Amino acid sequence: MASRSKKTIKTYDTAGLKVPVSLGVIMDGNGRWAKKRLLPRSAGHRAGAENLKELCRNCGNYGVKYLTVYAFSTENWSRPENEVSQLMKLFVEFFEKYDPELEQEGIRVRFTGDIASLPEDLQRVCREGEERSKHRPKMQLIVAFNYGGRRELVYAARRLAEQVRKGEIDPSDITEESISSNLYLPDVPDPELIIRPSGEMRLSNFLLWESAYSELWVSDTLWPDFGYEELTQAFRDYAGRDRRFGGLSAKDSDEGDKK
Ligand code: FPP
Repeated sequence: MASRSKKTIKTYDTAGLKVPVSLGVIMDGNGRWAKKRLLPRSAGHRAGAENLKELCRNCGNYGVKYLTVYAFSTENWSRPENEVSQLMKLFVEFFEKYDPELEQEGIRVRFTGDIASLPEDLQRVCREGEERSKHRPKMQLIVAFNYGGRRELVYAARRLAEQVRKGEIDPSDITEESISSNLYLPDVPDPELIIRPSGEMRLSNFLLWESAYSELWVSDTLWPDFGYEELTQAFRDYAGRDRRFGGLSAKDSDEGDKK
């Protein structure tokens, strides 16, 4: 298991790697990380937040432009009240206390999710975080907060239905492109790669529409321990993936046989 204290020389040399422009990360395993150390789950979330800073630094330095992280799903409200309230405190602290570090790294913060349904104080933290960071050039950190892929599709469907009701579009104008452009953040490219630490082989309602052709990379490491080496390995493996988008690669086609 990678140790968080292990000193690693970070080169950000991209030879042999493919760095995605848009990357998704499901930050899973904080609770298990804490339990293994006989610590409360909140300690796992705190270690997870520390690791998010590290991920931002590493992704920014590798040249990722959009990093979308799954922080809190529309289903996570069903967790014990104490865990939810500690997570909310941690989010506020992260975006206020850690912002100077994100600023130093040139990282812009944005949120995706049902932000309008959050309590007003959390909405304000999101708004201010976005406003304060909007000119930062290096990378966008997109935090999926009160996010559900299904809820995002409901949001897009309602927006399109409203446009039909007003007579602005015809139902036959609804296309894959128009659905994409009515999602929460239409300017953010679909993730080419989604990383899920902690061994689970599912998307858990993360970026359902946007992940149609994402490559998936899963590791057994729990999120707080997921570091530079594994990120680098994910980019190395991604370089070897053959993304066909439902088509064929040149070597597999009958035309390729004739060459
Ligand atoms: C899922 O793992 C993780 C979460 C529900 C919370 C993710 C939050 C953080 C990493 C904190 C930092 C985030 C921000 C944006 C400041 P789990 O805790 O359910 O782990 P388990 O599956 O081992 O129980």
